[in-house]
Amino acid sequence: MVQPEGSVKHRDRRFVLIAVIAGLGGLLFGYGTGVVAGVLLFLAHDFQLNGSLQGLFVAVALAGAALGAAIAGMLADAWGRRRVLLATAALFVLGSLLAALANTVLLLFLGRVLVGLAIGLASTVTPLYLAEITTPARRGAIVTINQLYISIGIFVAYGVNLLFADLASGWRWMLGLGALPALLLFVGMWVLPESPRWLIKQGLAARAEAALQYLRSTTQVTEELISLRQGGAEIAARSTSLPTLFRNPKLRRMMIIGLGLAVFQQVTGINVVLYFAPKIFQETGLSSPFMAILATGGIGLVNVLATILAMRFLDSLGRRKLLLWGLWGMLISLLLLSAGFLLPLQSVAGAILIVLISAVFVAFFAMSIGPVFWLLISEIFPQAVRGRGMSLATVVNWLANMLVAGVFLDLVGAIGRSGTFLIYAAMTLLAIVFTLKMVPETKGLSLEQIEQQFISNPE
Ligand code: BGC
Repeated sequence: MVQPEGSVKHRDRRFVLIAVIAGLGGLLFGYGTGVVAGVLLFLAHDFQLNGSLQGLFVAVALAGAALGAAIAGMLADAWGRRRVLLATAALFVLGSLLAALANTVLLLFLGRVLVGLAIGLASTVTPLYLAEITTPARRGAIVTINQLYISIGIFVAYGVNLLFADLASGWRWMLGLGALPALLLFVGMWVLPESPRWLIKQGLAARAEAALQYLRSTTQVTEELISLRQGGAEIAARSTSLPTLFRNPKLRRMMIIGLGLAVFQQVTGINVVLYFAPKIFQETGLSSPFMAILATGGIGLVNVLATILAMRFLDSLGRRKLLLWGLWGMLISLLLLSAGFLLPLQSVAGAILIVLISAVFVAFFAMSIGPVFWLLISEIFPQAVRGRGMSLATVVNWLANMLVAGVFLDLVGAIGRSGTFLIYAAMTLLAIVFTLKMVPETKGLSLEQIEQQFISNPE
């Protein structure tokens, strides 16, 4: 399994390629959620789905994702990260094809539930696997490949939705095309090794060594292996269980950080801006649907580019600083949006202003709580319960996502757009206070050091 030893640069490049394959789960997440908007436009006609059934179509995938995330950690701790990613890819292919070929509403919904389950599994296990195979110095960038793929997936879905919008049964293509990245993930994970940290925890030291040699493209892995084994031995001695996460005060603090960030990532409004954007833009003055969709595409692109910027700085500036700066930026843009909605817009200039502020908001999200939430939950839980801890945080993230999307239109109906965005701004302010008080800096530390420093050490 070990590759011929190459130069450091060559090994680096090879590792990045490995991470690029392992991160494909993020693409399933982004595409799977992003494609729904395009598909919905067809279902009223092709399946005579009324409004509430359309709502249910969206909800079943989100509920499937919450369920997938709930079982992901347990499965990943029991079966290993690699096998769960293989199962995720297979499930996604199956669900996508089933939904794309469906001739009855039941099969269509069943396909979407399977896709939802796969999205939930991918959302937990992709950052988990990426965090465990990389080195401390660039864990920020490598884990954020997941977020980069999520944003690319959403962007590609916007494009696919546009491309097939006028084709008869275009929705079949929209759903079916999701099988392609899933197939890639399946083939890729077939080749990649299991997480060395998980192997050590299972007592499979020889396989852990082989996996490390493969990942680092060198036989010189003794030092890293020793530190993993030491970490592993201490962890085995401690053997933390999930309920302990809430009983031990230091672990409880980690749990609160994970769950708090999960909620704040959603209740600050990102998915409202990403998914209701064409509707908002149209209503504020971009009356042509084409312009509204184009503006939405631009925002999708900003999301991708800003994530790349975050990858550049997460390991140098650190997670905490980026998180705080980004949240301040989000707060200011949300306040501006809230004020903007009060003006008598209904003009192209006004609508363009709203589009620009929305883009700035998305950029700040993509440089802060977007990637930092997934990164921190892959870092702050002890090895013994990392999978399950991440699962819990991810489930809460999906539930908060469902809640925000579910109440958005009613909220706008009740208190107007300006008031709704003011609520997101208030949530962002709370997120800033929460970060200042609770969130630790983890840059440059190995997962074992984080565990030592923040959890095991006496006060
Ligand atoms: C969030 C998603 C969001 C996406 C946008 C992710 O980190 O969890 O809810 O749609 O970022 O890029």
